[in-house]
Amino acid sequence: MTDRTAFITGGAGFIGSRLVAALRPHVSRIVVFDNLHPQVHGADAQPPSFGGETEFIRGDVTDAEALREAVCAAKPSLVFHLAAETGTGQSYDEPARYNNVNVMGTAWLIEALRVARKGGAPKCRVVLAGSRAVYGEGAYRTPEGDLVVGPVRTPEDLSAGRYLPVLQGRGALTPCPTPEALTPAPASVYASTKLMQEYLLEQCGAEGDYEVAILRFQNVYGPGQSLRNPYTGVLSIFSSQVLSGRALEIYEDGEIVRDFVFVDDVVSSLVAAGTAETPPSGPVNIGSGYPATIREVAETLLERLGATRSNYSVSGKFRPGDIRYAVADISRATSLLGWTPKVSLDEGLTSLADWAKETYAREGRL
Ligand SMILES: NC(=O)c1ccc[n+]([C@@H]2O[C@H](COP(=O)([O-])OP(=O)(O)OC[C@H]3O[C@@H](n4cnc5c(N)ncnc54)[C@H](O)[C@@H]3O)[C@@H](O)[C@H]2O)c1
Repeated sequence: MTDRTAFITGGAGFIGSRLVAALRPHVSRIVVFDNLHPQVHGADAQPPSFGGETEFIRGDVTDAEALREAVCAAKPSLVFHLAAETGTGQSYDEPARYNNVNVMGTAWLIEALRVARKGGAPKCRVVLAGSRAVYGEGAYRTPEGDLVVGPVRTPEDLSAGRYLPVLQGRGALTPCPTPEALTPAPASVYASTKLMQEYLLEQCGAEGDYEVAILRFQNVYGPGQSLRNPYTGVLSIFSSQVLSGRALEIYEDGEIVRDFVFVDDVVSSLVAAGTAETPPSGPVNIGSGYPATIREVAETLLERLGATRSNYSVSGKFRPGDIRYAVADISRATSLLGWTPKVSLDEGLTSLADWAKETYAREGRL
């Protein structure tokens, strides 16, 4: 496994930069291709210095020529595709940009891999940083035990405080962990673009230029997630708000459920998908498997950041299209990749809070 090159799009980001360090024992060279998006890295971002056998190329995945040149020069045997626009709410306002980067960027990557292969590059494996957003609402069981996608909640229900999804005529639904077999039902532009990434990679990979591993991450959190990007990463956004003295506002009744998975666990899943003898067939969920309410996580985070545990309000506000219950069934990740999450929510939140406090103290602003 050592005489190999890994190519990482988005490798300067939150997950990507930790992946670089974790991959070193597995490959001889790493090429990071990243445009240092100002929304993530700030307006005056300088190229990161990774050290070791790691080359950084500042480039955009929508620049077909630059991407092709970089892939052909790298001749990678492993590609991790992480570069993306990642804000769910922002994606409604900028559907063209989200499509251009996430969908077209993936298409250009596929074409670049084809050209590289014709030029003598080895058949490679592409690991996609996919998202659980492709499911839309999480999975539920009907009273008869059928597994269904939770229906989208209407603004009328939400404004009347009826937060649980209702399937007309089927009685009360019970939320349960989402398995990969659940039919995708993306509920945002971002989610649709993440599903298109999967489809493109699977459909074009069938021609044999590369093999594919698709991981669907739940909410990833931990040190290093941009504290200045207001569009993504609820726990980073909460951390910035607390550290700048603002009270937290929690939507609905505070009981929205998410599966928060620590960044190092996500990185180990990427390494496992890249190094497994054969790639898992079909998408694989990556999460903690633990259902955490936003209220519970906010209280712990407030405490770890040194603020008053109750410094939040539950406002009853809601966002149309928001998901009520999202928890991963991670049994396929364990059986196919031998992967399990190692970091508990408690440890992970302490680590995030310590890092956020240090960063805030060092930079004086976020
Ligand atoms: N963080 C999460 O909770 C989460 C959950 C599910 C899926 N994902 C997926 O994981 C991947 C990485 O997410 P992250 O949390 O590390 O985000 P991030 O924003 O920290 O990292 C993304 C990186 O991609 C780069 N980038 C953005 N647009 C680019 C472009 N046009 N060309 C080249 N580089 C570009 C950015 O500069 C950044 O360094 C994304 O594909 C995201 O959809 C993340």
